[in-house]
Amino acid sequence: MTTGRFITVEGIDGAGKSSHLEFLASAIRARGAEAVVTREPGGTPLGEKLRELVLHEPMDGTTEALVMFAARREHLVRVIEPALARGAWVLSDRFSDATFAYQCGGRGLDRGVFRTLESLVHPHRRPDATFLFDLDPAAALERQRAQSRTPDKFEREAAGFFGRVREAYLDRAREDPARVRVIDASGGIEDVRARLAEAFARAFP
Ligand code: TYD
Repeated sequence: MTTGRFITVEGIDGAGKSSHLEFLASAIRARGAEAVVTREPGGTPLGEKLRELVLHEPMDGTTEALVMFAARREHLVRVIEPALARGAWVLSDRFSDATFAYQCGGRGLDRGVFRTLESLVHPHRRPDATFLFDLDPAAALERQRAQSRTPDKFEREAAGFFGRVREAYLDRAREDPARVRVIDASGGIEDVRARLAEAFARAFP
């Protein structure tokens, strides 16, 4: 019997989602639950190896999407399902919405095919809530420039790519508004955090 909750956070690169993970983990712990914080691609030893490859090696878009789903299957079977089964809340930095946004929206792959793959990889599992940090790609690029680390393959994409990724994320939110909660990620970190806290409280009253 599953008693835990599965929460995902999404958004274009530079939208700032990762800076709010610790806040969400504390909100979960404040309810007396165990919080398992994880990420995609990655989250398992094999998944982290696949992450290295997919973030840095040039590859065909379909190959890229298949690698994302391969890493996801391992993540689901080895980390997500066991944690939920013992009653933990799982907080994942990205999940399947990212493939629909980046590979389908950004790279133009057909959504229908990946809906089928989604039902193979995680037939009975959908996030209970997804917090989508929504930000204009130009503002996201500014935030990324302020960080001094070397950009990966995705972060080097042009602004047009991120415009399409953003729209694809918003399409997912329109398709499933009860699950995908859009957070306006503009402005200061404290303002965004306040919006997130409100959305979290509404999702888990
Ligand atoms: P990200 O989550 O932004 O991590 P970091 O904050 O360390 O850069 O990096 C993961 C990248 O992988 C991001 O650019 C989005 C991309 N991605 C996809 O293209 N498809 C997917 O299905 C997933 C999970 C991620």
